[in-house]
Amino acid sequence: MPASPVFGKVLTLQQLTDAFARKFYYLRLSITDVCNFRCTYCLPDGYKPQGHNNKSFLSLNEIRRISRAFAHLGTEKVRLTGGEPSLRRDFSEIIAAVRENPQIRQLAVTTNGYRLARDVSTWRDAGLTGLNVSVDSLDPRQFYAITGQDKFREVMNGIDAAFTAGFSKVKVNTVLMRDVNHSSLQSFLNWIKDRPIQLRFIELMETGDGGSLFRKHHVSGEVIRAQLIQQGWQLLARSRSDGPAQVFTHPDYLGEIGLIMPYEKDFCASCNRLRVSALGNLHLCLFGDQGIPLRDLLAEDWQQQALMDRIQGGLGRKKQTHFLHQGNTGITQNLSFIGG
Ligand code: 5AD
Ligand code: SF4
Repeated sequence: MPASPVFGKVLTLQQLTDAFARKFYYLRLSITDVCNFRCTYCLPDGYKPQGHNNKSFLSLNEIRRISRAFAHLGTEKVRLTGGEPSLRRDFSEIIAAVRENPQIRQLAVTTNGYRLARDVSTWRDAGLTGLNVSVDSLDPRQFYAITGQDKFREVMNGIDAAFTAGFSKVKVNTVLMRDVNHSSLQSFLNWIKDRPIQLRFIELMETGDGGSLFRKHHVSGEVIRAQLIQQGWQLLARSRSDGPAQVFTHPDYLGEIGLIMPYEKDFCASCNRLRVSALGNLHLCLFGDQGIPLRDLLAEDWQQQALMDRIQGGLGRKKQTHFLHQGNTGITQNLSFIGG
């Protein structure tokens, strides 16, 4: 294995692997729990601090050390999540800090989009390579009803600004909900006909807080898949640091459609991601684990090897699959603390 010098010491480059021979190239790093939207499926009552203050979220230096450790453990792609990551005042510095690692070739953010129009070119200059914007409806009033923010226009302008800033493709997340948007495929398709947008329908996932919403609105991505195939859309092959989306393309469309179906059999077999929460806990799965604390190893540079060892060691406890089918959502009350 190749080695690389860090702080005068030689750290061995490793590849994170779990007991099921899955390799982990992808880290989702949450940098805040705070969000200014109140999406019905996530934070219907808005963000409420959970007994800690904003200052206790990972600092810039802690983020730097986490990124470095994961980079040395084979991570190629990092996604910054929240909450709403762009609410951090030091967001551009965070982007630059993660990109200090040449191994991390892709750095994306998942955002609700409200700061895009203003800041996206600064983020790109700092080293951001990818964007996921949440858009659950193309109808401004419905958008307002879902997110609690009357900001549809701003978000659309933000997506345009991302193209102007030089992003060649933007991903859009749409949480699929029965009687909300599950019959709107055609308007989404019209929207991406001449735009290089990958629109990803994400099946609504059950969280601790969202049981009744889930029972009312969950619908399988199968309804979308059947329509796509019928209209001549074709499934693309996936590459190793890709997310779990099944991606479809069509010769008449510049855009693509992705389907994320966490309830489908074998969804977890291709799991390639780990998560770190804004409080510095390593989560092996979105659902159901308490998290392995990393924070005590983030204070000083000399702790780097111990940090890497703890991450690798923790991975040995990763389970083969989530337990959502049994209705077990683990400790996950909502996804705002770990970014979906
Ligand atoms: N089910 C599915 N996706 C969710 N997200 C948040 N909560 C849920 C949920 N219960 C995802 C959405 C959003 C991103 C920030 O997190 O895709 O765009
Ligand atoms: Fe905020 Fe994202 Fe949750 Fe919506 S889904 S409330 S934008 S964290």
